[in-house]
Amino acid sequence: MKTITLNNGVVMPQIGYGVWQISPEECEHYVSEALAVGYRSIDTAQAYYNEEGVGAAVSKSGVARHDIFITTKVWISNAGEDKAARSIDESLRKLRTDYIDLLLIHQPFGDYYGTWRAMERAYRDGKVRAIGLSNFYDARFVDLAENMDVKPAVVQLETHVFSQQNKMRRLMADYGTRLMAWSPLARGMNGIFTNGTLQSIASRHGTDTAHVALKFLLDEGIIIIPQSTKRERMAANLALDDLELSSDEMEALRRLDTGHPLAADFNDPEMARFLLDYDRQHNPANR
Ligand SMILES: NC(=O)c1ccc[n+]([C@@H]2O[C@H](COP(=O)([O-])OP(=O)(O)OC[C@H]3O[C@@H](n4cnc5c(N)ncnc54)[C@H](OP(=O)(O)O)[C@@H]3O)[C@@H](O)[C@H]2O)c1
Repeated sequence: MKTITLNNGVVMPQIGYGVWQISPEECEHYVSEALAVGYRSIDTAQAYYNEEGVGAAVSKSGVARHDIFITTKVWISNAGEDKAARSIDESLRKLRTDYIDLLLIHQPFGDYYGTWRAMERAYRDGKVRAIGLSNFYDARFVDLAENMDVKPAVVQLETHVFSQQNKMRRLMADYGTRLMAWSPLARGMNGIFTNGTLQSIASRHGTDTAHVALKFLLDEGIIIIPQSTKRERMAANLALDDLELSSDEMEALRRLDTGHPLAADFNDPEMARFLLDYDRQHNPANR
């Protein structure tokens, strides 16, 4: 499995398995399946409310903890230095581990400077191996990266063939920060699975459009965390080494970029209001 070396020397798999919108009850099952077919990197978050399922699957898998890379994210309702620090300990407990491989600030809202300081402390204390951001764009990213001691190891952004994040990739390169693609299959949006360019390349290689879309991101040096609830697709999404895209094909795929994300605009005030209220609305503990 290909790996990426982060700006602090930590090595992580380039492909992982994402568990957004997988219920707490089902999470252990799907993560166990993912580990069984060969995934060694799992992406969860406090606000997915399924960290316990990840922890249970990892601890029962028979795979050594140091061979599995776990990413989780601090939610807005845990923002601020003290609250974030407590939430990191809570994530460790739920994940049944004494260290998190990669910890991200999930959203660019709330007291994220306080959160970053708590994450830096957890990093220095050995509770976390690398820290980074999610959904931070442009000036917000630069402001945090310039002001804080530990430079973000990754930024997780909506990234797929239709949203290739070229501007952010250029900015992130100044800090050695790597791009981690969320929704690398655009969650099926914009007709990705029937797109003409993807289809013609896929048929030339005797493969699926999904695999071309994922291999494009891998060849661009991007970390990906596709999700599937189907074991065969989980396995196939992981086995892309033999798919060799030509430079003409890569160029044609670069032309699918629209220059903006499809799912989420983090400068939209309504998006901010939705996310600021998300935990109250969605946390099973609040029901
Ligand atoms: N940081 C953030 O704010 C943020 C936001 C969103 C997501 N994420 C992370 O990114 C991960 C992945 O994103 P995502 O779950 O939104 O979407 P995604 O990985 O882009 O797409 C998942 C969808 O694609 C389908 N699929 C998967 N493999 C396929 C294949 N080979 N052929 C055809 N269809 C296929 C799946 O259906 P089946 O299940 O039927 O296969 C599912 O409906 C999340 O789970 C989460 O960990 C992070």
